[in-house]
Amino acid sequence: VTCFTGKNGRMATLGEETLRATLVDLLRDRVPHASAEVLAAFRFVPRHLFVPAATVAEAYADEAIVTRRDADDLPTSSSSQPTIMALMLEQLGIQPGDRVLEIGAGTGYNAALMAYLAGRGGSPAGRVVTLDIDPETVAAAAGHLVKAGFPEVEVVCGDGADGHPEAAPYDRIIATVGVWEIPQAWARQLAPGGRIVAPLDLGGVQLSVALERQGDTWRSVSAVPCGFMRLRGPAAGPERTVSLDSRLKLALPRGGSVPDVLTFLGGEPVRRASGVSGGPLDVFGGIGLRIATGEARACALWEKVSDAEEPYLAEPVIRFGDMAGAPGLLDDDGIAVLTGDDGDGFGVFGHGSSGGRLADDLVRHVQTWDAAGRPDADRLVLTVLPLDAETPTGATVMPKRHTKILVEFAPAP
Ligand SMILES: C[S@@+](CC[C@H](N)C(=O)[O-])C[C@H]1O[C@@H](n2cnc3c(N)ncnc32)[C@H](O)[C@@H]1O
Repeated sequence: VTCFTGKNGRMATLGEETLRATLVDLLRDRVPHASAEVLAAFRFVPRHLFVPAATVAEAYADEAIVTRRDADDLPTSSSSQPTIMALMLEQLGIQPGDRVLEIGAGTGYNAALMAYLAGRGGSPAGRVVTLDIDPETVAAAAGHLVKAGFPEVEVVCGDGADGHPEAAPYDRIIATVGVWEIPQAWARQLAPGGRIVAPLDLGGVQLSVALERQGDTWRSVSAVPCGFMRLRGPAAGPERTVSLDSRLKLALPRGGSVPDVLTFLGGEPVRRASGVSGGPLDVFGGIGLRIATGEARACALWEKVSDAEEPYLAEPVIRFGDMAGAPGLLDDDGIAVLTGDDGDGFGVFGHGSSGGRLADDLVRHVQTWDAAGRPDADRLVLTVLPLDAETPTGATVMPKRHTKILVEFAPAP
């Protein structure tokens, strides 16, 4: 590949330029109503300088790239998938001259994209501060940003839940790490008329929500399904994922004790049919969201499928490569899991002594979701309220530590 000096004086190669242009074409297709500014940012910022261990081809694929792992080999830092980054930058709507705070510096790539957006038109007031809890990640991100031509981005080591009051107020605050609750510090550090975008956990379903202030409440203006690693530190949520054996994992979005699920699954199941037809996409943003927000007993099972062993999930409703998954309901005496549509609509298997009752409840959720016009994340409206605020009788309310979230769905268009 031939080297040349690009418009900003950076050395570039024709290979990188072409790959970056191809990624931008892909984002134009995959991001509905992608704006010219956000696409220009992806066109300008060289992602490969932020992921030096990846090949240039990997750097410009529309994939997340894990950059750090803990002692158990679980990812602790990554460069997120460009499509979700672009969707979130559209939600954030950075204006020239904006002061922006990012929680989760990671590689520094998103901070560079935001510095481009805040500084466009030569806006001198535009500035970006990015925080990460891990000192080595901070040092690496700062190095990448200098190398890529963004030395003005401030990279700070700290717990993002506290924000960064030293440079407040901010016009935009974005988290690129999953949060269980919107920290109060962010609300305090946001300028009037500002916007927060964060991957928020709603009982096991994660949505990137854009929130704006309305009096002493926060209201969502958009929500996009996503899947980020979780915030670490004291503000982490109660959710946990437990390995039941070498191939089966149980996700408990509200934490709590783990009953003997393997024994439940070993018994003869009851099967119910919902009569509601659909596929995996209806589960993610639709049925899954309803169960996650409206059920204290919500759980999910994830199984690594192998030809060598009889699967636990007989008719899995979700398949990704060799992973099978299903949302469900769990109590101390049994579990019910959603299964795929076999012609009689989504089904449910109930296991254990309470399996039949849990299966009936799960079927009811599927049918109620269908009767309500199959609402999904596009119709979701969240209101973040003080803990002592009144909420309508019968409303779906998710209690958090310092706030509660009222969950509503706008009527079908
Ligand atoms: C998905 S990565 C962020 C990707 C990044 N925006 C980029 O463009 O490369 C999530 C990051 O959040 C960081 N993180 C986790 N808990 C945190 C916390 N409490 N405060 C600040 N950062 C945190 C992790 O160390 C990790 O680097």
